Amino acid sequence: MTLPNSSRRLDGKVAIVTGAGSGFGYGIAKKFTEEGAKVIVAELSKESGEKAASELDAKFVLTDVTSRESWQSLLQATLDTYRQLDIVVNNAGTTYHNKPTGDVTDADFDMCMNVNVKSIYLSANVIVPYFEQNNRPGNFIQISSTAALRPRPGLTWYNASKAAVGIANKSMAVEYGPKNIRFNCVCPVVGSTGLTHLFLGKPDTEENRAGFVSTVPMGRPSTPSDIANACCYLASDEANFITGVNLEVDGGRCV
Ligand SMILES: NC(=O)c1ccc[n+]([C@@H]2O[C@H](COP(=O)([O-])OP(=O)(O)OC[C@H]3O[C@@H](n4cnc5c(N)ncnc54)[C@H](O)[C@@H]3O)[C@@H](O)[C@H]2O)c1
Repeated sequence: MTLPNSSRRLDGKVAIVTGAGSGFGYGIAKKFTEEGAKVIVAELSKESGEKAASELDAKFVLTDVTSRESWQSLLQATLDTYRQLDIVVNNAGTTYHNKPTGDVTDADFDMCMNVNVKSIYLSANVIVPYFEQNNRPGNFIQISSTAALRPRPGLTWYNASKAAVGIANKSMAVEYGPKNIRFNCVCPVVGSTGLTHLFLGKPDTEENRAGFVSTVPMGRPSTPSDIANACCYLASDEANFITGVNLEVDGGRCV
């Protein structure tokens, strides 16, 4: 549903949403388009990225967030299409299957660090200069996790990758605050997406999720709309004095 122009909170803004082909990223891209933003679906999966873009009237750009060249092409494609960029949502992320930490492989570790952490480094390295050179306010939103703040067992290096995102985010918030470039994290509690069976270490069923959900005071998992609504606030001008926060969207899990 597209809202009437007068009440749209992201009118006139252009946003990149990584990993927008599914899960939370799709929800964020949908909310942003409903609120008037032009959205770039930056996704590794051609099939889901094209489908999402066509459903949301957005633009798909095939993107691997672990590659510098890919970030450079993504920025260029954004500017070629929409002539400006305002918001980057670093949502793409991954994990290995929940398992004892002693069983984690080098490949598991590298995958978490590359997709979850190197992507944040590259996004800032490639896109901050665009904001600086054009003297524009900038807005980065990192989809971190409650795992960064209240970790669960069997996911040590996923948890550590999200904790790294949190401190890098705070560090950039203080460094770039004087240039009006904001950096915030949204920290979801477990949801039901393509990654959930990996977090659980078993199929994503209500029964298997019950153990995780039992530690959430409000008694349910997060939804893509919960995460999208938090991102919309941080992306909007309503949040223009908010930087460096971890916004927990977790029904009280981290209290
Ligand atoms: N699902 C949860 O319970 C949960 C909880 C807390 C945080 N998160 C975080 O939410 C974010 C979104 O994950 P999700 O749960 O929606 O999972 P998902 O698997 O549904 O979505 C992730 C998307 O990222 C894309 N992607 C993966 N690697 C990529 C790459 N190298 N370049 C570009 N795109 C890539 C995938 O193709 C997929 O479309 C992740 O950062 C995840 O860590 C998820």
